Amino acid sequence: MQGRRVLLGVTGSIAAYKAAALARQLVRAGAEVRVVMTPLAKQFITPLTMATLSKHPILVEFFDPENGAWNSHISLGEWADCLLIAPATANTLAKMATGVADNLLLTTYLSARCEVVVAPAMDLDMYAHAATQANLATLAARGVRIVEPAEGELASGLQGKGRMAEPETIAAFLADLFTEKKKLTGRRFVVTAGATIEPIDPVRFLSNHSSGKMGYAIAGALARCGAHVTLVSGRTALATPPGVERIDVLSAEEMYRAAVAAFDGADGAVMCAAVADYTPETVADRKLEKGEGGMAIRLKRTRDIAAELGRRKGGRLLVGFALETHDEAAHAEAKLARKNLDFIVLNSLRDAGACFRGDTNKVTLIDRAGREELPLLTKREVAERIAGRIAALVGSAERNAPAEAPVEGGDR
Ligand code: C5P
Repeated sequence: MQGRRVLLGVTGSIAAYKAAALARQLVRAGAEVRVVMTPLAKQFITPLTMATLSKHPILVEFFDPENGAWNSHISLGEWADCLLIAPATANTLAKMATGVADNLLLTTYLSARCEVVVAPAMDLDMYAHAATQANLATLAARGVRIVEPAEGELASGLQGKGRMAEPETIAAFLADLFTEKKKLTGRRFVVTAGATIEPIDPVRFLSNHSSGKMGYAIAGALARCGAHVTLVSGRTALATPPGVERIDVLSAEEMYRAAVAAFDGADGAVMCAAVADYTPETVADRKLEKGEGGMAIRLKRTRDIAAELGRRKGGRLLVGFALETHDEAAHAEAKLARKNLDFIVLNSLRDAGACFRGDTNKVTLIDRAGREELPLLTKREVAERIAGRIAALVGSAERNAPAEAPVEGGDR
C-alpha cells in the first residue's frame, strides 16, 4: 500500500462512520488518502473527522464557495491509483451505472481512468432488489471491483446481506489489488482484438461477427497487472480499457503491420483478433454496379499475424485463440504447434454461452503440458485467468516453447 494514492468516496449511508476507520487504516498502511464526500454523506460523518484522519481537506462541492477555487474531478481521477467508494449506497451505484453526474464524486468516477472499487452498504431488500443487482452487474462488467457486503445485523434492525464489509476487509482487498497490479509492471504486451474489415469497393467489405469484447477484456486485465499494453484493434464499438494504448486498424494487412511493429520490444502478445483469412484480390475504386446475373469476387490469402510473431518470438510469450466448431481440441493443438504459441485459448461454438458479442465465454486453456477447462465465466473473468497465467509464465524462468519455430507452412 506504501505510496499508493487512494481517493476515498463516501456516500450517505449509516455505514459512513466506518469510512473513518477505513481512512485511518489506509493511511497507516502507507497510502496517501484524499476524501470526496457526497453532500448527504456530511449528515452521517463530519468533514472534520474525515479531513483529520486522511490528513487532507475534504472535497464535496465542484468549487469552494469562499474563493471560487475549482475542485477538478479530472485531476482527482488522474491523481488516484484507485477510487474506492465506501460506503456505496444503492443511489450512488444506480447513478454510476447510468452515468448520472450530479455531484463531485460522480463526475470524478465518470472521468477516472484508475481502478474503481465499491463497497456497497444498504438494507437487505435494497441490496437484493433486481435493480440494484442489475446495476452491480453493469458496473462489474465495466470493470468496477465490488467488495461484497456482509451478512449480519443492519441499521434497520433486520438481519441479512447488506452491511458494508469491515474496514479491515476493504483495506485487505485493496492491498491484494495493488499486489496483483504489480505482477506485470515494466512488461510490454501486444493484444490484437476485434474483426478485420476487407474492402471490396468504397462501400462494401467482408468481415465477421467478432465484437472485440474478449480481446478488450484481456488488454484491460493485463493493464491492471501493471503491463504496458498496445491494443491493435479492428473496428469495434468498445471503449479503450483504462491504461491501454490503442491502435485502430481496418484490414488484416494493416493489423499485420501494426502488430509486427508493436511486437518489437514487447515481452509478449495475445492474438485475440478474428483476422480475415481471405481478402479481395483487387479493391474496386468505384462502387461495383449490380447486373442481372450472379457475381464472383476473387480472394487471396491474408498473412497470419500469430504465425509471424511465432517465428519472431525467441523467448517471448505468445498466446493465441482457436474458435472451432468440430474436433476442437485437435485443431487447437495443431495451431498451438504451428504458430509456436505458449498456450492457446480454445472456444467451441458448440458451448452455450460462448457466443459472439455475448459477455460470457467458456474456454479451455491448452499448452504442451495439458488442458485446463474453465467453467462458463464472464469475459472479464476469463481475461483475468488468462492474465494470471501469463503473469505466472513471465515470472517463471523456463517455458516449454522452443526458442525458434519451424517456418510455418500450411496456415497461410
Ligand atoms: O488459424 P486460425 O485463424 O484458426 O488461428 C486463430 C489464431 O490465430 C487466433 O489467435 C488469431 O488471432 C490468429 N490469427 C492471426 N492472423 C491471421 C489468422 C489468425 O493472428 N491471419
